[in-house]
Amino acid sequence: MAVDSQAFKRAMAQFAAGVTVVTTAGGERPIGLTANSFTSVSLDPPLVLVCIQAQLHAHQAIQQNKVFAVSLLGAHQLDYGMRFAGLQKDVVDRFAGTVWKTAVTGSPVLPECLAWFDCELWNVFPGGDHSIFVGEVVALGVGEKESHPLLYHNRLWRRTEAIEASAPKRARPMRARAPKTRTRKR
Ligand SMILES: Cc1cc2nc3c(=O)[nH]c(=O)nc-3n(C[C@H](O)[C@H](O)[C@H](O)COP(=O)(O)O)c2cc1C
Repeated sequence: MAVDSQAFKRAMAQFAAGVTVVTTAGGERPIGLTANSFTSVSLDPPLVLVCIQAQLHAHQAIQQNKVFAVSLLGAHQLDYGMRFAGLQKDVVDRFAGTVWKTAVTGSPVLPECLAWFDCELWNVFPGGDHSIFVGEVVALGVGEKESHPLLYHNRLWRRTEAIEASAPKRARPMRARAPKTRTRKR
C-alpha cells in the first residue's frame, strides 16, 4: 500500500537531525548544499553517507568529481544552513564572503564548523529520487571551540538543550552469602 507523501514528510519531520553543508569543487565557484541526511556508516574503512536529490547540480558535480566534503554546522551558523538550502532568495553565490579552506580532495570546507570530513567517493547507490553517496573519509578536522550543533526538527531550526540525567546507580558487588543454617528450637 502506497504511503501518502505528505504523511511521510510529516512523520519524517519528527526526526531531529544535525545540519551539514556538503560541498565539492565546481568550475569557477565551488558547489554546496545544506543536507541533514548525513550519517556515519563504517569505522574500518571510515565511511559516511549523504543522500542527494538526483536533480540537483551538486548531485552531478559529486558524481563527476568523485569527491566531496561535509562541514557540520554549529548553532552559530544558521546563516550558512539557510543560504546553502537556497532559502535566501537574494543570494546568487552561496560562497560569497566566505573564506573557505580547501581540503585534500580539493573540496571546500566552511570556516568555524564543528567538524569536517573530506571524502573520496566510495560507492553510489540508487535511492529513489535521491542517490546515496558513500564517501571514504581521507581527512577530517574538529573545531577548536566547543559549540552547540545546529539542529533541524519539525521544520524549525533549533539548538540543543542538555537534559540532566541522574547518575546511573552502581550495581552492588555480589557478596557470597553464608548458607543459612536452621537452628532448631528445643
Ligand atoms: C535542513 C535541510 C536539510 C536538507 N537536507 C537535504 C539532503 O539531505 N539532501 C538533499 O538532496 N537536499 C537537502 N535539502 C535541500 C537542499 O539543500 C536544497 O534542495 C538545495 O540547496 C537546493 O539547491 P538549488 O537551489 O541549487 O536547487 C535540505 C534542506 C534543508 C533546509
